[in-house]
Amino acid sequence: MLTDAAGRYVTDLRVSVTKRCNFGCIYCHDEGLGPVARPRAPHDEEISPIEVERLVAVAREFGIRSVKFTGGEPLVRSDLEEIVARTVRQIPDVSLTTNGSMLAARAEPLRAAGLKRVNVSLDTLDAEEFRAIRGGALAPVLRGVREAVRVGLTPVKVNMVVFRRTVDHLASLIAFVDRTDGLRLQLIQFMPELVDPHDWAVDIAQVRRWLEEHASQVLVREMHHRRVYRFGRAEVELVDPVYNADFCAHCHRIRVTHRGELKGCLNRNDDLVPTRGLDDAALRDAFRTVITTRVPYYGGYLRAYPGAPSVGSALPMLSAGPRAGSPRGSDAAPGGR
Ligand code: 5AD
Ligand code: SF4
Repeated sequence: MLTDAAGRYVTDLRVSVTKRCNFGCIYCHDEGLGPVARPRAPHDEEISPIEVERLVAVAREFGIRSVKFTGGEPLVRSDLEEIVARTVRQIPDVSLTTNGSMLAARAEPLRAAGLKRVNVSLDTLDAEEFRAIRGGALAPVLRGVREAVRVGLTPVKVNMVVFRRTVDHLASLIAFVDRTDGLRLQLIQFMPELVDPHDWAVDIAQVRRWLEEHASQVLVREMHHRRVYRFGRAEVELVDPVYNADFCAHCHRIRVTHRGELKGCLNRNDDLVPTRGLDDAALRDAFRTVITTRVPYYGGYLRAYPGAPSVGSALPMLSAGPRAGSPRGSDAAPGGR
């Protein structure tokens, strides 16, 4: 086991296989590695399937139990099936975060390669708003979600980034997840730290209160101490990592960049540990080294980060009035309760 100075052991590896993407989401943090590249941009530096397998084999030795692939958009890589197939030989619990736009054609081969689950980013069901926020079309993403469910990449987690542009779409997404088999909704607090400054944050405590008040049932998950809100058949989770020391205290993840560097925290780039060309012993040392750089709470570390709220200060509250079915304060229940 790899355990850091704060006593957190590492159980998951999140591997970025590319920084290319066919979308251009206005909120994209691209894993903290600067703007995404266009799909046809040069990509010689990307980690190879064999490099992934070697990293994952060492991760397994250290007791890491799950691997998640991400990007950019991982499906821009035509060899993702090979990457998955090599990974599951080492660690069977392999999942993928995708924008879903190319998923319909790939869900079946990825499943055949051994992929277990997918997360698909879907912030709104309104096609125009979707295009405005994501820079791509909604319909292929919905086809991708359906196909992923059909081939058994379930539960398909629908990821919604919660910010000013999407918060009013929450009830409609809950209703969608309630009426569609095989889905779960994961609400992800907009993370402002790694993007250009924008006043887009909503008061996430208010969103949590809305979930608490409107859910038909509230369960507590052992893993990460997360709460699960039930709305009829829909299960909804809220991931709120922004300046949240408690979130960091339960972080059991390290990352790999598309160039094969190890990375101990999403919010840092001064902790990258290169692994290319290392022999097995040096690769093991690289894992040990990245653990030593992990800080218990990035907010303390980032004290001087521009735009960081001072300790204890709240993110901007929503100023607009209540709207039907939205967590801005309405008492309208979302569908399916
Ligand atoms: N804040 C929160 N989530 C983000 N994602 C990308 N950028 C941000 C951000 N600034 C999410 C996407 C996707 C996952 C890869 O990260 O929605 O679900
Ligand atoms: Fe960034 Fe993902 Fe959106 Fe691509 S789909 S722009 S990687 S958030």
